[in-house]
Amino acid sequence: MSQERALRAYYSLGKEEGRLGAGLGAVEFERTQEVVLRHLPSKPAMVADIGSGPGRYALWLASLGYEVLLRDIVPLHIEQALTAARDAGVSIDAQVGDARLLDLPDGCADAVLLLGPMYHLPDAADRERCLREARRVLRPGGIAYVAAISRWSPRLHAQLVRRGYRDYPNMADELPGVEQTGVMPPLVEGGFVGYTHRPGDLRREVESAGFACLDLVAVEGLAFALPDLDERLADETDRAVVLEAARVIERVPELLGLRPHLLATARRP
Ligand SMILES: C[S@@+](CC[C@H](N)C(=O)[O-])C[C@H]1O[C@@H](n2cnc3c(N)ncnc32)[C@H](O)[C@@H]1O
Repeated sequence: MSQERALRAYYSLGKEEGRLGAGLGAVEFERTQEVVLRHLPSKPAMVADIGSGPGRYALWLASLGYEVLLRDIVPLHIEQALTAARDAGVSIDAQVGDARLLDLPDGCADAVLLLGPMYHLPDAADRERCLREARRVLRPGGIAYVAAISRWSPRLHAQLVRRGYRDYPNMADELPGVEQTGVMPPLVEGGFVGYTHRPGDLRREVESAGFACLDLVAVEGLAFALPDLDERLADETDRAVVLEAARVIERVPELLGLRPHLLATARRP
């Protein structure tokens, strides 16, 4: 199966809807919102959410009064985003689209979210196309948020914490290759080919696409390794401590790659 068909087949199972609502996804959502708000242009402003999934971030931004536009390569995600927007009484422009070649005019957006496409593009030339498209559709001074999966996440999260080796004995053989090249073959049944970044590589890719990298943080802290995460998130004090730990160590250079997601904030000069 081609890489793109595998990706579509994986997401067409509907696994994305609700992912950000609980457990590690909830930590990812809350921390990403926090990081996005630090540099988000003030309203009125238009945010293009590219690789939007079912639109959780876009709907949040719409609820804050931003104009939002969504593109995603998976039709189910666009249908889900339109349904969620209808339910919320929000009007959005959501269409199927590829982050590498957007149907949007130059300079139309004040901010771009790229929270997904970069870790689905194993080919460096595709990642560059994706970043250059984000730059093209941003107005000068506009802000891009670029998410990546950390190079060490397959071993630390999928293999160690989730004990991937129990169901997928091949995982152990694949990990050294992932760590060397960044390219992640499907590690589990029905998975997709992905790409994992080292923090310095993400910064370099963002900068060589013509952005000024304003910040680069790790998103989830050690939340991914807490076996009782759900319990902690249900308790107000525990939840605050989990999020504070993630925030306090978000830029510590020697810990950057430890967490599942990296998030770069970049400005179009
Ligand atoms: C893990 S999901 C993240 C969704 C959402 N942005 C979030 O952060 O929850 C990755 C998303 O990127 C989308 N995607 C992957 N490659 C893409 C491409 N080339 N163009 C547009 N969307 C893409 C997928 O369909 C999927 O919805």
